[in-house]
Amino acid sequence: MKMTTLGDTGLATSRIGLGLAALGRPGYINLGHSDDLRAGRDVASMEARAQVVLDAARSAGVRYFDAARSYGRAEDFLAGWLASRRIGPGEVTIGSKWGYTYTAGWQVEADRHEVKDHSLGTLRRQVAETRAAFGPFVGLYQIHSATLESGVLDDPEVLEALARLRSESGWKVGLSLTGPRQAETLRKALGVEIGGERLFDCVQATWNLLEPSSGPALESARAEGLGVIVKEALANGRLTGRNDDPGFLDRRRRLEAEADRLGATLDALALAAVLDRPWADVVLSGASTVDQLASNLTALEVPWDDRAEANLQSLQEPPDAYWTARSRLSWN
Ligand SMILES: NC(=O)c1ccc[n+]([C@@H]2O[C@H](COP(=O)([O-])OP(=O)(O)OC[C@H]3O[C@@H](n4cnc5c(N)ncnc54)[C@H](OP(=O)(O)O)[C@@H]3O)[C@@H](O)[C@H]2O)c1
Repeated sequence: MKMTTLGDTGLATSRIGLGLAALGRPGYINLGHSDDLRAGRDVASMEARAQVVLDAARSAGVRYFDAARSYGRAEDFLAGWLASRRIGPGEVTIGSKWGYTYTAGWQVEADRHEVKDHSLGTLRRQVAETRAAFGPFVGLYQIHSATLESGVLDDPEVLEALARLRSESGWKVGLSLTGPRQAETLRKALGVEIGGERLFDCVQATWNLLEPSSGPALESARAEGLGVIVKEALANGRLTGRNDDPGFLDRRRRLEAEADRLGATLDALALAAVLDRPWADVVLSGASTVDQLASNLTALEVPWDDRAEANLQSLQEPPDAYWTARSRLSWN
C-alpha cells in the first residue's frame, strides 16, 4: 500500500489505517456491531478476532493503527499482537488517545460506556497506562474528542503538560474532534502555542459524504504542517449496505448508482471520497471483520472522479442534524 507521512511529523503511515474502536470492546455504536460479534463477546474471543483483523491489515500493508484508553482493551490487544508477531516499534505507527475512561465493565448495556474528563489528573493517569501498555510504540498521543465546551484548549496546566510530554517522550501530540463545531475547535487549536511553539502536530476529525463541514479547516491545518487523520468515513455504518433506514433510501439509491458506475462497494466509495482529499494523510477503516476490511481496502482502487464529486454533494446533512443523528445511535 502507498505510504505517506503524517503532515510534517515524520511519522510514516499507509493511506488507510485501522481503528480499534469496534474491535476492543463488546459494545459500540456502529450499526451492526452486535451482528459482527455473534461468534463471541468474551475477552478471549474478542482478542482473537482483533488479532485476525490486525493480521489481515498488516498483510495488506496497513501501517497505522488507532487506539484510545476508552476502547475497552484495544491498547492491550494491540500490544499483545505486536509482541506475539515480533513487530518492532519502527515497523508501524500507533496513535492513542486520552480523555475518556472506559466504564462499561465489558457489558453491552451499561449505564455509562465511557466518562469524559480532560483534566490534568486524567491525562497523568492515562499517559502512565498507555506507557505501561506499549510505550515504545506510541508515535502520537491525542486529546480524545476535544471540544470548545470541554475547556481543554483553555486549560494551561493540561496544555503545558502535553508540551512537556512531547519534548520528554518524543511522542507527537494531537487532538481528535467531534460535533458540529469541529472546524472552530481546530482553528482554536491551531493557535495554541507553548514556549512560542505550536503544540499540536496532528488532528483526527470526522469527514464523510454526509458531514464534510470540517474540510476547509482540515485543509488549512494540513497547509500548516499538521498530520490529518480522517475517522468515521462511513458515518458509523450509515454509508454502508447495512443502512436500511427508510428515510435514507433515496440517498442510498444515489450512492448505489455511483458505486455501480465506478465498480465499487458502498463502503469503498465513501472511503475513496476521503482518499481523494489532498489534505487527508490517512483515513481510518473501522472494520470489525476481515471481510469488511477487505472491502474497505478496495477503496484504493476506486477511480473517484468529478462526476462522483458532483453527484454525491446532495448527500450532505446540516452538521447539527448529522451530529444529532449520531448521538441517537444505540450501543449494540
Ligand atoms: N473521537 C474520536 O477520536 C473517534 C471517534 C470515532 C472513531 N474514531 C476512530 O476512527 C475509527 C473508525 O471510526 P468508526 O469505526 O467509529 O466509524 P466508521 O469508520 O464510520 O464506520 C465503521 C463501521 O462501518 C461498518 N462497515 C465497515 N465496512 C463495512 C462493510 N463492508 N459492510 C458493512 N458495514 C461495514 C462497520 O460497522 P458495523 O459492522 O457495526 O455496522 C464498521 O465498524 C475508529 O475505530 C476509531 O479508531 C475516533
